[in-house]
Amino acid sequence: MNVQTPSAFGTIATGSGLTPGYMSGFGNGFETEALPGALPVGRNSPQRCPYGLYAEQLSGSPFTAPRTTNERSWLYRIRPTIAHTGAFAKAEAGFWRTAPAHEADVPIAPLRWDPIPIPSEPLSFVEGVRTMTTAGDAGAQSGMGAHLYFVTRSMQDEYVYNADAEMVLVPQEGELRLATEFGVIDIEPGEIAVIPRGVKLRVELLGGPARGYLCENYGGALTLPERGPIGANCLANQRDFLTPCAAYEDRDAPSKLFVKWGGALWSCDLDHSPLDVVAWHGNYAPYKYDLRKYAPVGPLLFDHADPSIFTVLTSPSETPGTANIDFVIFSDRWLVAENTFRPPWYHMNVMSEFMGLIYGVYDAKTGGGFAPGGISLHNSMLPHGPDRDAFQKASNAELAPHKLQGTLAFMFETRFPQKVSRYAAESPAFQRSYAGYGKALKKNFDPTRP
Ligand code: FE2
Repeated sequence: MNVQTPSAFGTIATGSGLTPGYMSGFGNGFETEALPGALPVGRNSPQRCPYGLYAEQLSGSPFTAPRTTNERSWLYRIRPTIAHTGAFAKAEAGFWRTAPAHEADVPIAPLRWDPIPIPSEPLSFVEGVRTMTTAGDAGAQSGMGAHLYFVTRSMQDEYVYNADAEMVLVPQEGELRLATEFGVIDIEPGEIAVIPRGVKLRVELLGGPARGYLCENYGGALTLPERGPIGANCLANQRDFLTPCAAYEDRDAPSKLFVKWGGALWSCDLDHSPLDVVAWHGNYAPYKYDLRKYAPVGPLLFDHADPSIFTVLTSPSETPGTANIDFVIFSDRWLVAENTFRPPWYHMNVMSEFMGLIYGVYDAKTGGGFAPGGISLHNSMLPHGPDRDAFQKASNAELAPHKLQGTLAFMFETRFPQKVSRYAAESPAFQRSYAGYGKALKKNFDPTRP
């Protein structure tokens, strides 16, 4: 892997061909060019750009957003985006839903799904999105869609961008190559990729079929959470985020561009590849992050910190501390707390919790039923907590230091209640018996034994 770090003086990172090369950092003002001298120096919009390129700004925030949240990049491309597109026609959205989408009446309860097998039919990334839940309202730029994706074929001369949402891809099985306008990102299980709104890409398989989770963030861009008294290090460190170096293709071929816009899928025909950005600079760009580089911080003596301590990225809302989405992971770590019930405690939450398991065993559900590739949903103000097996083990365990190893679970947590899709409600993987798992927890109360 080629990782290049731009210096404070703006060293230009170069990429060539559609192969991955990365720059390190989070929210930097990156500069990168795939041909020497392609990036205009000292100005954004010269009268004539080098190599006959067009200059185009991609604004991820309003022009007037404060500096801390202002996001935009300048792209120097073979054709401007307006030349890629014409009138769009409605395309078949399959099982991809957008909030508000109240289409299934599932009784309120803890909900869980087995891993859904990868279908055998040919499915591109666009065809393979399966919505599990939606929350909020995409048109109001708040909430999220939580999906599975299945990919059994690479997109060929097909491209997509999402105008409704920033997309977080969480691979669970199989590797993907994300050929984006900004450059190429390869991801595997254990890594995530974040594709901002409006960024075009083609999704390719790098090996066998792929399955993973997809979060559409309709709200504010994901950013790093404040660390407060933790200080300047640990949790997700800026240097571990990787943004691609510029890479482009000059390819004339009949092609199709899909656009997720207004809760629907649209398409138009092109006669060339829109991945034609030869150079770019700015702070609005896709990136990837290896979740195994997350440096957890937790309780050292007793008790159990709130799971917010494991936040990787957060999409803030207008209410301080009330996230549109928190992306939280539960990864390898030592448990050392004395005289403490170490698994997650029993809980009811104003936020709603969509969980997935990338690999291993999640420590609150040792009784089985939450397998890698599976999903649990603990909705707003509905109770949840360790199953009977986990409770009994943790209540009677000898509290020596213990390492949770080989495990990676995650949560998309949102302030909005999540609506279950019809696809999820009717899936054979839906575990109808899970709703009653709490009833297995027996009364242990004995007034004679303090
Ligand atoms: Fe919870």
